[in-house]
Amino acid sequence: MTPKVVRIALIGAGWMGQIHSETYCRLYTRTTDSGVRPELRWVVDVDEPRARRLLETYGYARMGAKWEKVIAREDVDVVDVCVHNSLHRDIVLAAARAGKHLLCEKPLATSVQAAEEMVRAVEEAEVVHMINFNYRRVPAIAYARQLLGEGALGEVYQMRVLFAQDFAASPDLPVSWRFRPDLAGGGSLVTMGSHAIDLMRWFMGDVSRLVSMTSTLVPERPLTGDDGRVVPGRRAKVAVDDVTSVIVRFASGAAGTLETTWLAHGRKHHLEFEVYGSRGALRFNSERLNELMFCDGSSPAELRGFRTILVGEPHPYGTQFGLKTGMGIGIKETFLLQLQDLLAGVASGTKVTPDFRDGLEVDRFIAAAFDSAGLGRWVELHTG
Ligand SMILES: NC(=O)c1ccc[n+]([C@@H]2O[C@H](COP(=O)([O-])OP(=O)(O)OC[C@H]3O[C@@H](n4cnc5c(N)ncnc54)[C@H](O)[C@@H]3O)[C@@H](O)[C@H]2O)c1
Repeated sequence: MTPKVVRIALIGAGWMGQIHSETYCRLYTRTTDSGVRPELRWVVDVDEPRARRLLETYGYARMGAKWEKVIAREDVDVVDVCVHNSLHRDIVLAAARAGKHLLCEKPLATSVQAAEEMVRAVEEAEVVHMINFNYRRVPAIAYARQLLGEGALGEVYQMRVLFAQDFAASPDLPVSWRFRPDLAGGGSLVTMGSHAIDLMRWFMGDVSRLVSMTSTLVPERPLTGDDGRVVPGRRAKVAVDDVTSVIVRFASGAAGTLETTWLAHGRKHHLEFEVYGSRGALRFNSERLNELMFCDGSSPAELRGFRTILVGEPHPYGTQFGLKTGMGIGIKETFLLQLQDLLAGVASGTKVTPDFRDGLEVDRFIAAAFDSAGLGRWVELHTG
């Protein structure tokens, strides 16, 4: 089959821009049922050396500094948004207006109003839209979701999620856009929690109400200038949440808790969840990406306990990488699965998931959690 070509314009050549670029290159050489191939047309960044590095490493055809000049071009099918959060809105609105398909990094936006505008824009333009909640494509998580859907846990009572990292544990970590509310829209709840909230919704359905507490425990960090370099001897005030706890009531009646922290010494990339039901329980921790723990509550009392399932060939995506069970995949493979589905959706003109509506619901959760923390009381959530 002659591969259909999907032409990419990548906006933002930082960390995620590099991972997306590498992923497109892997997809270029991959034989898939859909026969779709990405073509790297444009890489755009205000930081010229960054754009040039990706152009030269991954073979983009052209580079630019102004996204406004690139996204509406004839030779672009997909605009891939990898800039800081507050810029997602403007790029998405302009790209949708130009009829371009969209991949947007998480979170969708820095306000519910902006997220609603973005959903409206892509739906009116009838373009394919995906948000990069890539944890849905961790095979162990996809299998956990499958078990839940098959009723392996019986009636689902509760989900607990913790996303803990240590990257900001030192007060000497300089400020970046992630610590600025105007650019990021929040702190650990936004940066890490957005993934966790999406998983909670995917597993448990809509949230009806929540109550939360946010804490800024490192209120100052070394100041950086426009060039990203530390300004010697100067510190910047930081007002975003370092640590957040949320208690959740799901529309189903089930209970939930979510904790996020980027001050957690010893935790590297620790997205952990537990789900308890009337017939069993599940546990997962992203530092052990290929393992899922399952407890069958109907097994004899003396054997009842968590067993560790090494996720591989018999599980979701298990035949995608030509690996034997136990060899294991890494987080980059989840980007591969995600972007592969995006390209297939663009080639066939069909919807993909998770999409901007999922992004909007996560932004509604985040806004409600910040409202609740400010008001010091429960807040209702309205979806749709
Ligand atoms: N899915 C995930 O697991 C994951 C992980 C990390 C980050 N993210 C998300 O990816 C996005 C980017 O994060 P990152 O870590 O790559 O950030 P980054 O700071 O490494 O990269 C952002 C890039 O955008 C560029 N930029 C800024 N303004 C621009 C403009 N006007 N036009 C063009 N380029 C511009 C910057 O120069 C920088 O190179 C964020 O939304 C973040 O939340 C997602």
